[in-house]
Amino acid sequence: MTKWTATFRLGELDSPRRFDAGGPAVLVSLIDGVPYAVEDSCLHRGASLASGVCRGGIITCPSHWWRYDLRDGALQGSPGQHLATFACRIVGDVVEVDLPEPVVAPSLREQLLAHARSGRSPDA
Ligand code: FES
Repeated sequence: MTKWTATFRLGELDSPRRFDAGGPAVLVSLIDGVPYAVEDSCLHRGASLASGVCRGGIITCPSHWWRYDLRDGALQGSPGQHLATFACRIVGDVVEVDLPEPVVAPSLREQLLAHARSGRSPDA
C-alpha cells in the first residue's frame, strides 16, 4: 500500500534532497520543473546519493562515482540496472511522493497477546 507523502517545497529543491520518514529513503529532485524521486541507496554499496554532484539530471555517487539518471533511476553505462523510482506530483508548492507505507512491527506486548489468543502452546 502506498500513500502520497509531502516532502519538500519547490524552493527547497535547488539540488536533490534526501527524504526519510521511516519508509524507504528517497532522493527528491526537480529537473526542468518536473519532480522526480528515486531510492537513495546506491546499487554498488548502498551509499546515499544526496551529497553527490548533480548535473543535467545525472547524479554521481559520492563514494565510488557510479552515475544515475534521476529521471528514471538508470545506472549510466549499465542497461537494465536502475534505482527504484516513485511517482511524484506537485500540490501547491510542495512535492508529494507516492511512497510505500512504513511497516510497523508489532510491539512485544502485541505479539504476546496475539500468541496468547491463538491458543498455541509456547513451544509451538
Ligand atoms: S557506493 Fe555508490 S558507487 Fe560505490
